[in-house]
Amino acid sequence: MAFVSNAPLVSRLTRRGRLMAKRTCDRRGHAFAFGRFLFRTPTAWEYAAAVAGGSDPAAQRWLGWLADSVVAEPMRGEALRVLPGTGPDWATPDPHSVDVVAIDLVAGRCAGLVSVHAGEDGGPETGGYLAPEYRGQGFGRDLFAAGLLLAHEHLGLSRVRAGAEVGNVASGRSLEAAGLRRAPGPPRYTLPDGRACEAWWYQHDAAWPRACAGPQAKWLAAS
Ligand SMILES: CC(C)(COP(=O)(O)OP(=O)(O)OC[C@H]1O[C@@H](n2cnc3c(N)ncnc32)[C@H](O)[C@@H]1OP(=O)(O)O)[C@@H](O)C(=O)NCCC(=O)NCCS
Repeated sequence: MAFVSNAPLVSRLTRRGRLMAKRTCDRRGHAFAFGRFLFRTPTAWEYAAAVAGGSDPAAQRWLGWLADSVVAEPMRGEALRVLPGTGPDWATPDPHSVDVVAIDLVAGRCAGLVSVHAGEDGGPETGGYLAPEYRGQGFGRDLFAAGLLLAHEHLGLSRVRAGAEVGNVASGRSLEAAGLRRAPGPPRYTLPDGRACEAWWYQHDAAWPRACAGPQAKWLAAS
């Protein structure tokens, strides 16, 4: 997942405080509530905040992004303070991924990101991460449940899979708590930085998937 650094503008836009009230899907993006969070197609600054939330070494141990995608301090702290609803519309840098940020409306923070993207075999996979202050409290279940909602209720996908590195117990347990079940799959997958890791695989099926009014994953339908 690429990341374009726009952090110097973040504080100016945050001060401007342009709040978006978007709560439903339309052709420009997705929006739905689940659990504590509003999940929404991010603005540029919301995306920067979410990426910052996955940029700490503990998360990178599992996510393995390329160095130029990782937000380093002091920008990481600044990006994490982005006020949800600020920043310009923005298109994901990965055309094969539909990303939504988890917005904590109570705290006014971007808490994480979940996506439905093309896996190594071209089929739909979900995955995501939480900002450090949101980990260890069971919110991973809501994050991955939102990934299932995105796949089945918004993108019209009947099956979605997820991979977790063997040993990432928090991820595996959160995926299972969200309703995914262990499934067979390739023994390994490769992280963006090139590291091959042993994989646990999960999947979830829906008999009657639906497509919403939001942007659709045409790249998956074509695969
Ligand atoms: C993965 C992630 C989304 C999980 O969400 P979370 O809310 O932090 O998950 P939790 O810490 O609540 O852990 C979920 C469960 O696993 C358990 N667990 C976590 N680490 C554990 C460990 N090392 N050993 C045993 N159990 C563990 C927790 O006790 C919890 O148990 P419960 O279901 O009985 O409550 C989040 O930790 C995260 O963003 N991590 C960094 C990035 C990442 O790994 N992303 C996934 C890549 S595949």
